[in-house]
Amino acid sequence: MRETTGTTAAQLAGAPLSRLAGTLLMGALLVTTTPNARAASDATETVSSPDGRIEAVLAITAGRPTYSISRDSRPVIQPSTLGFRFKDDPPLTGGFIIDGVERAAIDETWEPVWGSASDVRNHCNELAVRLKEESGRGRIMTVVLRVFDDGVGFRYVLPEQPGLGTFDIISEETTFRLAGDHTVWWNRNDYDSYEHLFHETTLSTVEGANTPVTMVTAEGLYLSIHEANLTDYAGMTLVPEEGVPNSLAAELVPWPDGVTRVLGRTPLVTPWRTVQIGERPGDLVESHLIQNLNEPCVIEDTSWIRPMKYLGIWWSLHIGKESWHEGPTHGATTANAKRYVDFAAEHGIGGVLIEGWNTGWDRWGARGAFDYVTPYDDFDLEDVVRYGREKGVAIIGHHETGGDAADYETRVDAAFDLYNRVGVSAVKTGYAGGIYPRGQHHHGQWMIFHYRRILEKAADARIMLDVHEPIKPTGISRTYPNMMTREGVRGMEYNAWSEGNPPEHTTILPFTRMLAGPLDYTPGIFDLTFDEYKLDNRVHTTIAKQLALYVVLLSPLQMAADLPENYEGHPALGFIERVPCTWDETRVLDAAIGDYVVIARRNGDEWFLGSITDEEERALQVSLDFLAAGRRYQARIYRDGAGAHWETNPISVDVSTVVVGAEDTMTLELAPGGGAAVYFAPVNREEN
Ligand code: NOJ
Ligand code: CA
Repeated sequence: MRETTGTTAAQLAGAPLSRLAGTLLMGALLVTTTPNARAASDATETVSSPDGRIEAVLAITAGRPTYSISRDSRPVIQPSTLGFRFKDDPPLTGGFIIDGVERAAIDETWEPVWGSASDVRNHCNELAVRLKEESGRGRIMTVVLRVFDDGVGFRYVLPEQPGLGTFDIISEETTFRLAGDHTVWWNRNDYDSYEHLFHETTLSTVEGANTPVTMVTAEGLYLSIHEANLTDYAGMTLVPEEGVPNSLAAELVPWPDGVTRVLGRTPLVTPWRTVQIGERPGDLVESHLIQNLNEPCVIEDTSWIRPMKYLGIWWSLHIGKESWHEGPTHGATTANAKRYVDFAAEHGIGGVLIEGWNTGWDRWGARGAFDYVTPYDDFDLEDVVRYGREKGVAIIGHHETGGDAADYETRVDAAFDLYNRVGVSAVKTGYAGGIYPRGQHHHGQWMIFHYRRILEKAADARIMLDVHEPIKPTGISRTYPNMMTREGVRGMEYNAWSEGNPPEHTTILPFTRMLAGPLDYTPGIFDLTFDEYKLDNRVHTTIAKQLALYVVLLSPLQMAADLPENYEGHPALGFIERVPCTWDETRVLDAAIGDYVVIARRNGDEWFLGSITDEEERALQVSLDFLAAGRRYQARIYRDGAGAHWETNPISVDVSTVVVGAEDTMTLELAPGGGAAVYFAPVNREEN
C-alpha cells in the first residue's frame, strides 16, 4: 500500500494500551496543552467540515462536556453526553475545565489493496479538546473530533497521568440525542451475533441495536451511527437513553460478570464513534469515513493479498447433500475437492473453500474438538493443494472453532504453519457456538482482542482471512488488508435451513451492515429451491437477482455458492465468470432502503451494474452517464425472464446484448424478488 500526499498535522504514535494489549498497534493522538487553562465557566469549541456544511461543537456547561453536530445549521445530534463510569473510580463525566485545544487539518489520498475504489481521499478537520477535572485528582480526558464532508468521528483519549492508571470501565456515557423521531433500520443488540433480519421502525421504538444503525430524517437526511477502529475495547451497541426522547446511548458489550465492559489502563484511546451523513442513501455507501478513521496499512509487501471469487464444498453441506464429518456422504474428499478445482479452473474462479477437511466434526460442541491439522482419511490436503496450484486455483482452508477461541489460540500457530507448508494462503475461520472461555461474548473485549491476535498472526503468516461469526468490521482492513471479508450478517446459509431471508433483506444490507465493511453473504445460488434435498426451504430471489448481488454486495473474497453441477452449462454463469470482486469506482445510481438498489462499479475500463428489488416488481430508468463519454459499450444484460417471480418462477432468466453509450438510458424491469445484472465492455476490445 502506498500513502500519498499526507499532510496530517496531528501526530500519531503507536501505543500498547490496555491491560490486555501487549502487541496491538494502535494510533494514539498526542495533544499538546495550551498554557492557559480556561476558567470553569461554560465554553465551546467548534470545528467544521472542509466544505463548511457540517459543524461539530464540543461544549462545557457547568463542568459537563457535551458534543453536538449540525449540517447546514440544522441540528443532527443535539448536545449529547460524554464520559465514563468506572467500577472502582469516581465517574469521569463532569467538573471539567478546558485545559488545552489543538487543531489540525488532514488531507491525504491512499490506495487500498482492494475495495470499492482505487483511491481514497481522507479529508477532514480535527479538533482535540483536553478536559481536566477542576478538583479532586485532576484527571484528564481528551475528546478528539474529526469532521469530514460526509460525517463526523469522535473518540476519547485518556492519557497517562498520575490520577488514572488501571481501571474497569462499566459504562461509556456517550449518547446520540437525535433531532427527531427518525425512521431507523436496525439489527437487534445481540452480543454474540449479527445474524438477524433488520427492523424498520421509528427511533422511539428501537429496543436496542448493533451498529451500524441507519436512519432517515423527516427532511430526507440519511444518517448512520457506527464505530471505527475497534481495537482492544468492547463493541458498542445502542439502547434507548432513559428519559430522553429520540436518543440512543452507548452500551458496551460486557465481560462475563455482566458489569465490566473494558479492562483498561492509561494511555487509552477508544474506537471512534461515527455519524455518517448524506443526502441520498447512496452517499452513505460511497463514503470512506470508517476506513479513513483507521491507521494506514502496516503490511509492507501486500503482493500476496489477492481478491478472488471462490467455490466451496459448502452449500452441499448446508442443504444436506453432503456432510462435514466422515461417512458415506462426506463432502471433503480428495476426489470431490479436485472436481471443484477443475470447475473453478475452467470458469476463471480463483479459489475453492473446503469445509469438513479436518477431524472433529463428529465431536461438535466438545472442548478442543478440532486440532486444525489432522485431515480425515479420505482427504489428502497436500495433494489437493498441489492439484489446485497446477491449475491456478487457490485452496481456501477452514478453521471452524465451534466457539472454542481459547483452544484455537493454542493451536493456531501450528495450523497456520501447516497451511504455509502446503501452500494455503486464505483461511475461513468460524466461531459458531458459545465462546470458550464461557461467558465471554463474540462482541466483547476479550474476543475483539482474540480476533485481532489471529489477524496479526495471519498477516505474519501471509494468510488472508474470511471470518465467520466475527466482530463487525470497523475499517481495520485499511491497516490489515489481509482481513478480506467476514460474515456478521444473516447470509445465504439461512435459506438452506430456516424460513430464509425475505426478498427485502438484501435491499437493506448495503445501507446498514455493508457500511461497516465487506460481507461474505455468499451469493450465486441458481438451484433456488433445491427440492431434491429439502422441500421446505428455498432462496427468496430470482436467478437474475443472485447475479446482481455480485455488484450490490462488496466482498474481496466473493463466493459462487452453488454446486458445480448447478452451474454447468447455465447461461447465467457468464456473469459470475466476468464479474470482479474489487473495484476502481463505485456509484449508487438509485436506491430506496428496503425497496430497491441500483449500483454501478468500474474495474479498469469495464462497468458492472447490479440492481435488486424487494418483493415488489419495478421498472427503473437508469441513465448510463457513468460510462465514458464518446465510447460505445457492449452491454450484456442478465434480467428476469418472462413470468419470473421469486416464488412462482424464480429460474426464468433472459440474457441479451445491446450496444450503448453514456447518452443512453436503460430500463430495468425487475420481477418480484428479482434483479438485473449488466456487464459493459468497450466495443473496440477484442474479447467482445
Ligand atoms: C457457520 C458459517 O457461517 C458457515 O459458513 C459454516 O459453513 C458453518 N458455520 C460451519 O463452519
Ligand atoms: Ca454463520
